[in-house]
Amino acid sequence: MTQSITHYLPLLDWYNAMGADTLFSDAPRDYYQTADQSLSTLNTPKAIHNHSPYDSSLTVMPAIVTLATPTKPSPIDLSRDSAKQGRAPVKTGLARNDLGDAHPARACTTLEELRQAMKTATGCDLVKAATTTVFSGGNPKADIMLIGEAPGAEEDRTGEPFVGQSGQLLDAILATIGIDRTMVYIANIIPWRPPGNRPPTTSEIAYCLPFIERHIALVRPKIILLLGGVATKTLLRRDDGILKLRGELLPYTPLHNDDAGDTLILAMPTFHPSYIMRSPSQKSCVWKDMLILKELRARNFSI
Ligand code: URA
Repeated sequence: MTQSITHYLPLLDWYNAMGADTLFSDAPRDYYQTADQSLSTLNTPKAIHNHSPYDSSLTVMPAIVTLATPTKPSPIDLSRDSAKQGRAPVKTGLARNDLGDAHPARACTTLEELRQAMKTATGCDLVKAATTTVFSGGNPKADIMLIGEAPGAEEDRTGEPFVGQSGQLLDAILATIGIDRTMVYIANIIPWRPPGNRPPTTSEIAYCLPFIERHIALVRPKIILLLGGVATKTLLRRDDGILKLRGELLPYTPLHNDDAGDTLILAMPTFHPSYIMRSPSQKSCVWKDMLILKELRARNFSI
């Protein structure tokens, strides 16, 4: 007996809630079964444990300290006097990725090499379900680099970061201070869409961290704008969360890339556009952060 379409709507809702929100073809296909051999050997939890670069032999994170712990600057006071010069020990679950020189990010000396290394990476299960590797968007010569969390459905389809709803809001936020995508460079902590837009796991982040750190080292922006809690926690490795850190100017200190150079790269956490969509009352905070960015640009990023 043929059922009417309404009969199937609850099922579609359920698929959607489980994260299966994209139709790729008419017939179902198990991507885990059809993945190439090198990927399929990673399928069992045991194999994942044995092959994984990050779980079985994590070293204790070296005692990384930030150079300074600035207090929240106001849009009109960006002087170094507004910064506390204390040293703050940092604790998070992230350890240095022990793949070391074997990590595919390590050998990349150009953005194109990095793009290829990420496109062919197999060390993270997210690549199996993702359609594309979302590498970057915007202008690689820009002084400002925006770093989000991970691609969503639209980004996975198009290969461009921040092209869905949160991307439209991001464009509107940037426009408030007169900048657009030709004046910023955009990447994500994770280049592959987590199924159903779930948050990335610590081990996925640990695998991707050398990629984004190498990405920053190759672009060498003057400031990185960290969009949301995942980008903030991953790249700053601080106890404090986004609610406490947003709007602060902090020195960026990579965990890998010992060749990162001496020039100070500033980091400023701000709320992720999708958080603003859920909590519009927080828009004013992002507005304040944008004013800080505007002021910094006007000063050519010297503080
Ligand atoms: N959210 C992100 O963090 N990154 C994107 O590219 C899109 C949405």
